[in-house]
Amino acid sequence: MCEPYVGVQNSLRSPVIDLHCHILPGIDDGPQTMEDSLAIAKAAVAAGTRTIVATPHVSWEYRNDAATIARLVGLVNASLLAAGVPLKVRAGAEIEMTMAAELNDRDLSRLTLGGRRWLLLEPPFTSVVSGVDLLVATFERKGYGVVIAHPERCAAFQRDPQILEASIAAGALCSLTAGSLVGRFGAAVQRFAEQLVRYGLVHNVASDAHDAVQRPPGMAAELADADLESLADWLTRAVPAAILDGSNIPPRPMVEMREWPTGGGASLLRRARRG
Ligand SMILES: [Fe+2]
Repeated sequence: MCEPYVGVQNSLRSPVIDLHCHILPGIDDGPQTMEDSLAIAKAAVAAGTRTIVATPHVSWEYRNDAATIARLVGLVNASLLAAGVPLKVRAGAEIEMTMAAELNDRDLSRLTLGGRRWLLLEPPFTSVVSGVDLLVATFERKGYGVVIAHPERCAAFQRDPQILEASIAAGALCSLTAGSLVGRFGAAVQRFAEQLVRYGLVHNVASDAHDAVQRPPGMAAELADADLESLADWLTRAVPAAILDGSNIPPRPMVEMREWPTGGGASLLRRARRG
């Protein structure tokens, strides 16, 4: 049973949480120095964020482990404290989907978002994927939840949104990248991102920041540009707070949404639903 969503009142107490951010230095394709990490942190605070989950890649290219991530989270938090930056960093990881299937329970349990049950999994960018819903169901049986990172950028989901819908039906949540909503990854990704939101297939918006400028932190401006301020509380406070404290995911509030122009994504979703 989902807990009732109490909207604005709750948002006044809970901080904006960025659930997906490459803020740890020298560990992946994010910042390479602590100075770079602090620049991301300051930009995040300026954008209204108060908690960041550090999600370095855990992939075939970047074979990071939980002990390294925990050590760097400690160092970044100490630097933030010393610099007077009002931001808290929690440990997490962005695990390449094909690698997650190979990790044992001990490793997986130490790579969850904030130490609870949710794993952030990065789908392949290829135009064909299979078995995502089965993978989600397998993790559910083991007691993990799956948050799918930036599904809007996955060509296979664009081609066949039913794969994504089946994964959500199996228990997955979807975390959109804020920049996708404003065209930072191209028009097709932007259109698909908007359609996913419209069809209720998005549960969180995160920054997926890699630096302070090119792929910056912050979600509020992007949500406002996409005319999604009415969902911002739920997407960037209520849902990520539930993910981090292990409570039930609050239901999406009923809100008025603007009519977006229909594009390829809408057609695909309609076809998928008819088919
Ligand atoms: Fe990422």
